[in-house]
Amino acid sequence: MELSLRSIKSTHMNTIRLHDKIFELFIPADKINQAVENIALRMNTELQGKNPVFISVLKGSFMFTSDLMKKLNFDCSIGFIRLSSYTGTSSTGHVKKLIGLDEDIKDRTVVVIEDIVDTGLTLEHTIRQLEEFHPSEIRVASFLMKPEVFRGSRKPEYVGIEVANRFIVGYGLDYNELGRNLPDIYVLVDE
Ligand code: XMP
Ligand code: MG
Repeated sequence: MELSLRSIKSTHMNTIRLHDKIFELFIPADKINQAVENIALRMNTELQGKNPVFISVLKGSFMFTSDLMKKLNFDCSIGFIRLSSYTGTSSTGHVKKLIGLDEDIKDRTVVVIEDIVDTGLTLEHTIRQLEEFHPSEIRVASFLMKPEVFRGSRKPEYVGIEVANRFIVGYGLDYNELGRNLPDIYVLVDE
């Protein structure tokens, strides 16, 4: 009886179920906030006066984008794009076309806002498509990065937290569309 009570409590606080899988707490909201703060501090110095256009890559980066923007103290604009083909818990390796860009980015400093950079291939594809609109420069801010599996040629200038190569959800990231609303980040429990 006592044992089962304890496990119910811990399930409630530290682990969650999304669809058929169990995830455990990995990065709490206060640590997330500190990492966003660190990026904002750097941007407030490095992007001051550049009037950049932030391009947020939906859906995953919506929470990071919102938290980050509130901490910036310089003129900037924002646009949202989609470029996604990731389903389930492993990348398909296929990427779709960039859709939704309605900002004129010609001769502007563009800052791509990503939720997570894994292999880096999605990011490379995004950058290649944005370059066709001739911005003056493109920088990248990714809240999370998995350095172990990164094999792109373009590393993000701004990274919030580096994580191991495990599947994570929360703070915008999903497992088949569940989990995006979680304020903390959770990691898939190995079966
Ligand atoms: P690549 O490998 O192209 O992948 O850098 C980047 C995209 O893959 C998704 N991704 C994840 N989504 N948990 C998720 O919910 C993860 O651990 C994860 N790793 C990669 C994500 O859409 C990202 O933009
Ligand atoms: Mg996803």
